[in-house]
Amino acid sequence: MTGSAAILAGAALPRQASANVPVPYSWQQSPPTTSREAFISWMVANRGEDPKIVAMRWDRYLFLKTNHDFVNDRNGRAFLLNPRDEFVMKRDIARAYDRDFHDIGFGVTISGPLVVSRMTSTIDVQFGEKVLEIGTGSGNQSGYLANLTDKVWTIEIIKPLAERTRGIYDNLISRGYTEFKAINTKQTDGYYGWEEAGPFDKIIVTCGIDHIPPPLLSQLRPNGLMVIPVGPPGAHVILKIVKQQNPDGSIRVARSNVYNKVVPFVPFTKLQDDVVKGTHDGPR
Ligand SMILES: C[S@@+](CC[C@H](N)C(=O)[O-])C[C@H]1O[C@@H](n2cnc3c(N)ncnc32)[C@H](O)[C@@H]1O
Repeated sequence: MTGSAAILAGAALPRQASANVPVPYSWQQSPPTTSREAFISWMVANRGEDPKIVAMRWDRYLFLKTNHDFVNDRNGRAFLLNPRDEFVMKRDIARAYDRDFHDIGFGVTISGPLVVSRMTSTIDVQFGEKVLEIGTGSGNQSGYLANLTDKVWTIEIIKPLAERTRGIYDNLISRGYTEFKAINTKQTDGYYGWEEAGPFDKIIVTCGIDHIPPPLLSQLRPNGLMVIPVGPPGAHVILKIVKQQNPDGSIRVARSNVYNKVVPFVPFTKLQDDVVKGTHDGPR
């Protein structure tokens, strides 16, 4: 089998719906968290999801909660409503809620649920805030964000991956997951952000780099937050960046390490003449 045929065989292509979402999405709607059984029955009745899959989601939710990987109930709700299983390769559906990252083709990965929850919680997105994600990848992270706010922008550099993920979102929307309408997608080099859509209240970067891209910092609103993996290749730490505005209008950038671990992220690559080539690391 060729590389591209292998990718297609396991691809996260839009799935045929077993059922459309029976109850329209509402920001007031939250699944019960009193018991595993109550959660599963609610998800089957309201979201038309497979009980075996949502059982795995519940088990990961309890782990994340105990591990303090999300900060509050709103972030927990977003994890519970986001169908992570739709964003992994077909061969990985049974492992979609494992703690590890998975290969999604094109040499990149869907980040593990612990890192995704920790990073999302770091920017604690409020309803109505504008959020920019760099590195759409599988689409899972923006799905999580779309359960926190109705204004999400996401950029992916790899063209066929960006198109595949757009297809997954469109398929979900057609099946009644209307929250995915919040997500605006674009294929380009995310180093330069999405100026026309900015400024953003929050920015989340899901590929690793050795510095904070100045265009992203300038598209962050004063007092906005960014979360970004920073460090040498394969050894990033997850930084929270606060763009503080002083009373005199001057800007100060505060950074803190929010995850006491070194995490190897997919590199923050560059687009040169429409080809992905090299990274943004190194002297500028
Ligand atoms: C860890 S992976 C995917 C994470 C993703 N948020 C998810 O939920 O699956 C990081 C992604 O960043 C993308 N990426 C790398 N450099 C980029 C750039 N300059 N602009 C936009 N996306 C980039 C990669 O192609 C990859 O899809």
